[in-house]
Amino acid sequence: MPYFGVLHRYRHLLDIPAHTAQVSLLEGNTLLIPMPRLAKELGGGFELWVKFEGLNPTGSFKDRGMTVAISEAVGRGVKAVICASTGNTAASAAAYAARAGLRSIVLIPQGKVAAGKLAGAVAYGAQVIQVEGSFDEALSLVVEITQRHPIALVNSLNPYRLEGQKTAAFEICDLLQAAPDWLCLPVGNAGNITSYWMGFKQYDRLKTTGLPHILGVQAAGAAPLVLGHPVDHPETVATAIRIGRPARGEQALQAAEESAGRIISASDDEILSMQRRLAAEGVWVEPASAAGLAGWAAEIRLGNIRPHGWRVVAVCTGHGLKDPDIITRTSPAPRLIPAEMGALEEAILET
Ligand code: F0G
Repeated sequence: MPYFGVLHRYRHLLDIPAHTAQVSLLEGNTLLIPMPRLAKELGGGFELWVKFEGLNPTGSFKDRGMTVAISEAVGRGVKAVICASTGNTAASAAAYAARAGLRSIVLIPQGKVAAGKLAGAVAYGAQVIQVEGSFDEALSLVVEITQRHPIALVNSLNPYRLEGQKTAAFEICDLLQAAPDWLCLPVGNAGNITSYWMGFKQYDRLKTTGLPHILGVQAAGAAPLVLGHPVDHPETVATAIRIGRPARGEQALQAAEESAGRIISASDDEILSMQRRLAAEGVWVEPASAAGLAGWAAEIRLGNIRPHGWRVVAVCTGHGLKDPDIITRTSPAPRLIPAEMGALEEAILET
């Protein structure tokens, strides 16, 4: 059967108004990739799958929520949408607004957005505005402006974003025929962890698919939910989750508690090292996307989690192509040789 995107597939399970139109780029239906070698490297005793959300149309999981938020906005006659973003929401909002013929405005923290995300937002035709400040400050501005002007807010404070993002939990249960034992994922503004937990609970009520423990992972330099207080100057190489005041922080903590999981932090080194390990198996994700699994690896290493035959799904939220600079910056430049056989042989045979 042809695939028409998450609204088409799961609309009957989403709490959305009847006026919701359908603006889709055929998002969702992303791959759940088995990772037996990595599971073994991390100590074994569990089954590991990566839900590769970087395979969505704009390269991140944001498309699941954005198709619903933009569809609802279009249905009620909205003409312009706005969001604050560390990059992926911006690219996604811009793409879906373009698809719907709406104006989009995106606010990003100055100098802290990865190249592929900024380029995406520009390519899809958004009006991109850099703010001299953090994501958190940009978010306050967009919340206020949408109270003053008829512009729709498409950050995950918009409930329809969460409705759309629930579909990833549905897909996992549909594919595995049950919820996994553990779900690990990065946490930034905390919309995604909230959505997954809503989705798993809803599916369990409907289909008794069970509930996972949720392991939410923040970057150590931007870990307000671990520290228990906001972080005024968040810093991390994982710029997607460089957030000090998560809008859905309370719900994230509740998801962790209700699921008998937890929210922890991973250092930048742990995150980048997990990014490399995933890439070494052919799955290149952006730094933030490796945080969930970096946290899982640390919990095993520290003996905080003892795997016994568990089935674990790690959500990898965005594609590595979003942030190419981080790889090129931290790796030696490719060697340059003259166009001669001798030089090529020397280059590849010497080690
Ligand atoms: N992973 C990636 C690649 C992200 O872009 C984000 C959030 C997250 C994880 C965290 O998800 O915010 O729902 O907890 N990016 C937002 C943005 C903030 O503006 O693109 P969350």
